Amino acid sequence: MTHPLMPSVSPRGLRSIPVLLVLGLALAGAQLDAAAPIADKHVKRRVELMATQKAAITTLADMMAGRTSFNASKAKAARRTLVKTTGDIRKRFKKPRMDPNSHANPLIWQQWDDFETRAETAKDAAKQLNAYTLNGLLRTVPSMVQACLSCHETYRNAPNDFITH
Ligand code: HEC
Repeated sequence: MTHPLMPSVSPRGLRSIPVLLVLGLALAGAQLDAAAPIADKHVKRRVELMATQKAAITTLADMMAGRTSFNASKAKAARRTLVKTTGDIRKRFKKPRMDPNSHANPLIWQQWDDFETRAETAKDAAKQLNAYTLNGLLRTVPSMVQACLSCHETYRNAPNDFITH
């Protein structure tokens, strides 16, 4: 099976395309809203961490979709960013802090062990990212994206969720 835009993509890689569409839509709804600034500095930092992750995933998704050409050093830098940021999720969320414009679900602190496990799963997925080749990205980015979305599904209140339904 070949794809007109990506002739060297394996069938397994092609299956990642719906995942990327979901990612695009879900994260489009996850825009940082300039009109709703976050005052609490700790909340701000955890949202900034998430925005950094989104930028790294976007770099990889753009290469996978052919919007930019594959660049191994940029892909590796994005992987490094994701290993670091996913590794910091626990620390950035540990203290229960809220802000009127935060989208964090307070369940995080009632089910802290589960939240930690999801952060750990995301870190494992980041470490598993293969940034050496385009095929490597196609094989490994979908699990990373799944880890982002599955945590959001439970622990992020998304005012823009209608976009994905
Ligand atoms: C362990 C749980 C968890 C994981 C894993 C996770 N997130 Fe998040 N994310 C959250 C929570 C909770 C918020 C809301 C934080 C807030 O508003 O205080 C959030 C917010 C965001 C936001 C800001 C959206 C908004 O609400 O304004 C973006 C963008 C984002 N995440 C991207 C990502 C990406 C990309 C990944 C994967 C690389 C990821 N997240 C992985 C829990 C997670």
